[in-house]
Amino acid sequence: MNDLDRAAEILRACERTVLLTGAGVSAESGVPTFRDALDGLWAKYDPMQLATPQAFEADPALVTRWYDERRRRVASCEPNAAHRAISRWGAALGPDRFTLLTQNVDRLHQRAGSENAVELHGTLLVWRCTLTGETAADLPVPLPHCPMPSPAGGLYRPDVVWFGESLPPEAMRTAARAIEDCDVIVSIGTSAVVEPAASFVAWARNHGAAAIEINRDATPISDAVDVSIRGLAAEIVPALVERLLRVD
Ligand code: OAD
Repeated sequence: MNDLDRAAEILRACERTVLLTGAGVSAESGVPTFRDALDGLWAKYDPMQLATPQAFEADPALVTRWYDERRRRVASCEPNAAHRAISRWGAALGPDRFTLLTQNVDRLHQRAGSENAVELHGTLLVWRCTLTGETAADLPVPLPHCPMPSPAGGLYRPDVVWFGESLPPEAMRTAARAIEDCDVIVSIGTSAVVEPAASFVAWARNHGAAAIEINRDATPISDAVDVSIRGLAAEIVPALVERLLRVD
């Protein structure tokens, strides 16, 4: 039996499935990953200069421009076959049996139909007032000003989680409940190095859940899961979902 069939066999025997996705799921839509050696964002930019509260404090124009450029780029990308297959998977199981946790900030899962995706790291498409916390999801693309003043007299910052910041409490509560309750977790397209998401697989396995990984490269969790499948998400995920939803 090959890995894909073994993964499908495990998943069919489970009641409650949690997915954890990362930038690898959006790579084939043209959204840059973070740690790809050649074209990953952190290969070209220093995250400490762009993705921290201190960086925004020091140079709000630079940080705002960088995020607005990423927002523009994501708006021109389309969901790929992995996003669409995950949407079908979630629709087939329903919200009581399927939870999608994503580290991605591009909203391609939602554009593919996964409305309940839990955004662990926020989203590029929404800005948040530094004074009131009010959010705005419809600011012009590109922003007319960098940095962008908010109506309350503060500045708009991207509604993403920066290094050194906590995850949105509601997203973390939802993730914790789902991980505690699941009997299988599937990690797709993530390097599994950024906490707390990097520990979600171990957390699920600690209470007896099965674990599956789909990723182009090996990661620190590859040896800790029941099945680790090397490959591209836009190929592997649709093939897996086809096996799961096939009516024998
Ligand atoms: P990374 O760039 O760290 O890892 C992407 C993973 O996807 C790598 O392990 C690749 O091998 C894999 N990959 C690339 N292309 C793929 C494809 N087509 N199919 C399948 N796998 C593929 O991105 P994340 O793990 O998502 O956080 O990064 C986690 C967090 O670190 C991000 O949410 C962001 C970043 O800093 C914050 O900014 C807070």
